[in-house]
Amino acid sequence: MMAKRQNDGNFWFESNNFVRLLILLTAIGISMGTIIYTNILSKRLKERERQSIELFAKALEFVNNTENAENLQFVYNEIIGANSSVPCIVVDSLGNAIMHRNLDLPEDITPEKQKSLILAELEEMKAEHSPIIIQAQLDNVVYNTWRLYYNNSNLFNQLKYYPYVQLSILLVFGFLAYVAFSYSKKAEQNRLWVGLAKETAHQLGTPISSLMAWVEYFKAVPEFRNSDYIKEVEKDIERLELITERFSSIGSTPALKEVNLVDHVKHTISYLQTRISRKVSINIETVVDPTLVSLNPSLFAWVIENICKNAVDAMNGQGAINLKIIKANEGKVFLDISDTGKGISKSHLKTIFEPGFTTKKRGWGLGLALVKRIVESYHQGKIYIKRTELDKGTTFRIILPSANSRI
Ligand SMILES: Nc1ncnc2c1ncn2[C@@H]1O[C@H](COP(=O)(O)OP(=O)(O)OP(=O)(O)O)[C@@H](O)[C@H]1O
Ligand SMILES: [Mg+2]
Repeated sequence: MMAKRQNDGNFWFESNNFVRLLILLTAIGISMGTIIYTNILSKRLKERERQSIELFAKALEFVNNTENAENLQFVYNEIIGANSSVPCIVVDSLGNAIMHRNLDLPEDITPEKQKSLILAELEEMKAEHSPIIIQAQLDNVVYNTWRLYYNNSNLFNQLKYYPYVQLSILLVFGFLAYVAFSYSKKAEQNRLWVGLAKETAHQLGTPISSLMAWVEYFKAVPEFRNSDYIKEVEKDIERLELITERFSSIGSTPALKEVNLVDHVKHTISYLQTRISRKVSINIETVVDPTLVSLNPSLFAWVIENICKNAVDAMNGQGAINLKIIKANEGKVFLDISDTGKGISKSHLKTIFEPGFTTKKRGWGLGLALVKRIVESYHQGKIYIKRTELDKGTTFRIILPSANSRI
């Protein structure tokens, strides 16, 4: 039975991991594909822009070096006018800008401002592409050399950044989907906890009432009235009632009341001590007494019991457990529970509070998951491993808000 449970768990875990890996690889594949494909497209666009700007430069040169250029209306219309997307600036041999196209200059600015904007654009263009030379000739003699500088068109820039914008959007969506998924998974786990706990409390109710009725019946019989058996059965019924109360508290919003933590720990330990090996000594250290906290006593006793039971297991039934209550600043109270057990290996530290994680043959891995839930969800506290050393021991720290100051 045990082996089957673990195998099932592993199968589910592994197939889950496989699906995750598959989704991740597909996402990486799609992203790489998009980036490579847009890179090819933008390279092609870049070449075409270079060609069209070269044609534009040639047309300028041609028109400039041809007499009666007014007759070349089509060159103006079809080539020079056709460049409506690639920004460019023509400078003369002295470096003065003598012409510009498609610069996104704001209207209504002073000529000085316009000049400085053009110069700034020119610097950018110089860094981006090598210039195209235009030679102005008169009677086949070059009298001036102009340089045409240009920049990428808006279309090119958009295409360049498109895959990154797309990837960022995908990442945001992926993140939101992940959050929504884990939220709904958590909500489902919560429903399971609450449902199981309620059902258990409900089911225990009937046999307990019946046992109580039997005890009353036997008490009425003179031979049994003062018998030790009846007292033992009554103690067991009390314990069963406590367990039922714990389950029913887990299944609803438990009522908290102001309790002295020191007294509560002492009371819980006195019950535990009679039930664990005599070779385990339990010591309670208090720094300040009383230490008032808001607690649901029966649930919090469950926390202490679970941690102490784990401690006893970790010490193989022999060693010392120390419980220390410290009143910290900022309205917090610490409860440190230390043992002299085998410690927790680093690789287990992250999973130790997860339901189902166990290293024990007969464990269910529910103890610490329950403890965390009780401390964090029902008491607005925190629990973590403060210290652990292999073969030396472990200390769990619980932080609780002191009464009237929730964390
Ligand atoms: N004090 C400790 N020292 C060393 N290891 C610990 C200690 N407390 C818990 N662990 C480790 O954490 C695991 C999970 O503990 P948890 O109480 O959740 O489950 P469990 O004790 O294995 O089973 P269950 O409590 O459901 O019977 C344990 O199996 C053990 O390996
Ligand atoms: Mg346990």
